[in-house]
Amino acid sequence: MTWESPKERWNRIYAQGRRTPLRETLQRFVPLARVGRALEIACGTGENAVFLARLGFRVDAFDISEVAVRQARERARQAGVQVNFLVYDAATFPFPSERYDLVVNFYFLERRTFPGIRRALKPGGLLIFETFNVRHRAVRPDAPAEHFLRFCELTRAFAEGFQALHYEERGSRTVLVARKLENP
Ligand SMILES: C[S@@+](CC[C@H](N)C(=O)[O-])C[C@H]1O[C@@H](n2cnc3c(N)ncnc32)[C@H](O)[C@@H]1O
Repeated sequence: MTWESPKERWNRIYAQGRRTPLRETLQRFVPLARVGRALEIACGTGENAVFLARLGFRVDAFDISEVAVRQARERARQAGVQVNFLVYDAATFPFPSERYDLVVNFYFLERRTFPGIRRALKPGGLLIFETFNVRHRAVRPDAPAEHFLRFCELTRAFAEGFQALHYEERGSRTVLVARKLENP
């Protein structure tokens, strides 16, 4: 078997028909965000980004897979909303300074984005982050441990300058909802 890069792997998976679901956590916590500019990291086929655009957010969303982004653009077109879908590797995404009222990250973990997320939120902006923690190794024993969040890792990464509004480690899933402080 030949080695596949993450981009090739995800392109193959999306070409085989995978779709990303609208995340319940987003529906539950989005009312805590000011409607304004939003960023979705690793947006897959765009359901969350389109949902946000329908709520009135001006959305930027990116993913490493151009196959997913193509499908996401088509989804937005069919929904009649504008979303700025981009193909980017999260490790090199140029996070701007204080642009977003909301940043969302679902089922993707690239720790090199953490400083960018902190910077890209406006004061008062909301972060909604959900992904697998180390308990998920029970179902993915082949995956390296660093692919999963350690316990309390997110609360530590977003402790300074943020107020945690919701945090849970339920089974193998971790959710953090945190607001960037207006006056840290
Ligand atoms: C498990 S899926 C999650 C997709 C979506 N966020 C969701 O909640 O369903 C992981 C996503 O991360 C994307 N991805 C993987 N590596 C990436 C990287 N380095 N930069 C940006 N996106 C990446 C994949 O293409 C895929 O869409």
